[in-house]
Amino acid sequence: MPEATPVDRGTPILQLDQVVRSFGGVRAVDGCSFSIDRGSLTALIGPNGAGKSTVVNLVAGALKPDAGSIVYGGVDITGVVSHRIAGRGLIRTFQLSREFARMTVLENLVVVARGQSGESLFNALLRPRLCRREDRVLVERAIDVLDRFGLAAQRDMYAGDLSGGQKRLVELARAVMSEPELLILDEPMAGVNPALIDLLGGHIESLCRNGITVVMVEHNLEIVERICDHVVVMALGRTLATGVMSDLRSNSEVVRAYLGERLDEPTVR
Ligand SMILES: Nc1ncnc2c1ncn2[C@@H]1O[C@H](COP(=O)(O)OP(=O)(O)O)[C@@H](O)[C@H]1O
Ligand SMILES: [Mg+2]
Repeated sequence: MPEATPVDRGTPILQLDQVVRSFGGVRAVDGCSFSIDRGSLTALIGPNGAGKSTVVNLVAGALKPDAGSIVYGGVDITGVVSHRIAGRGLIRTFQLSREFARMTVLENLVVVARGQSGESLFNALLRPRLCRREDRVLVERAIDVLDRFGLAAQRDMYAGDLSGGQKRLVELARAVMSEPELLILDEPMAGVNPALIDLLGGHIESLCRNGITVVMVEHNLEIVERICDHVVVMALGRTLATGVMSDLRSNSEVVRAYLGERLDEPTVR
C-alpha cells in the first residue's frame, strides 16, 4: 500500500539552472539560477528590465530558453509548451490583468477551469448531459472560490466593470480554479488601490498556508517583507542574491543595484 505523502516542505519544487533568453541583441535573462522550496512564499524582485517577467514566461512555457534548464517537481520542463506545464499544476498570472471583460465574474472562473479539464467542442455537442453535469460542479466550485475571495456580490457583474483591485482578485480566483501546485504571480498588486494591497496580500498568504507554493514578482517591498519568507533578487538577467529581506538590506551589492533609494523610505507602517 502506498503511504500517504506529507507535503514535502523545504524540498525544491522549482529549479532554474543557468537559464538564458535573448531578444535580438538583448540578453533579457543571462544565466539565471535559483531554487524555490515547496510550501514557500517567495518574492522575485529587481529593477525594471531585470528579466523577471521573462523568467516567468520561460518557467510557464510561454517562451523557450536559449540555454539552461528548468526542473519542476523533479521533471525537466525546459522548452515544454505552456498548456502541458499548466496541466502539471504550474499556473501563472500576468503583469496586466487578462480577464474576459464581457463575461461575468462567474463565467470567467468557469471558463478557465473548463479549459484546464480539456473540455472540448466535441464533448459539448455529443455529450451534452455530461457537460451540463460537469458545468454544474464547476459552477458550484466557482461560487465557493468567489466566496473565499469576497467576490460573491460581484459574481454576475461583467469582469470589465470591476475596479483594478477586484480584477486582481478575479485573477487570483481564476488561478485557484485550476488547482495549482505552484502559482507564479507577476506583479499581483500592480494597479491596485493602496487600501486593497493588504487584502490581496492576505489572500496570497492564505493560498500558501493552504499548501500552494507561491512565487510573486513584486515591487512593493513593504508587503514583500511582511508576507514573503524568501526573496530572490534579479539584476541584469541574473540572480544577484537570495535570502530573507533583512539579510538583503545589509548586502551592499543588492543595496546598490536596487534597494538604495527605497531603503531610505519609511518601511513598516
Ligand atoms: N518580447 C520581447 N521582445 C524584445 N525585448 C524584450 C521582450 N520581452 C522583454 N524584453 C526585454 O528584456 C529585458 C527584460 O524584460 P522583462 O523580463 O520584462 O523585465 P522585468 O519584468 O524585470 O521588468 C528588457 O530589456 C526588455 O525590454
Ligand atoms: Mg515585468
